[in-house]
Amino acid sequence: MAEIDACGLDEIDEEDLLRFDHGGHSYAIYRITGDEVYCTDGLCTHEQVHLEDGLVMEHVIECPRHNGRFDIRTGKALGAPVCIDLATYPARVVNGRVLVDLP
Ligand code: FES
Repeated sequence: MAEIDACGLDEIDEEDLLRFDHGGHSYAIYRITGDEVYCTDGLCTHEQVHLEDGLVMEHVIECPRHNGRFDIRTGKALGAPVCIDLATYPARVVNGRVLVDLP
């Protein structure tokens, strides 16, 4: 794992997410409120659609394709049509930058 400087905190609105591509892999970085941030894989586990256009509601991301939902904190799939959890990665804010721990 390596800690990567992904973006500025101010690049992500509250209750929103940002796509972050790194090392041939795509991730989603979420900001809930203030400096509460999370990182998951960017692609929905149902049909590999990117979650960047999805809807963030509190700690849930809803996929834009079929409305599958995941818990942003744990990656847990919350019901049909999604049944495979999203991978999650540690994320934190330091000096206004979002740092993510990626493989
Ligand atoms: S592609 Fe995400 S719910 Fe189907």
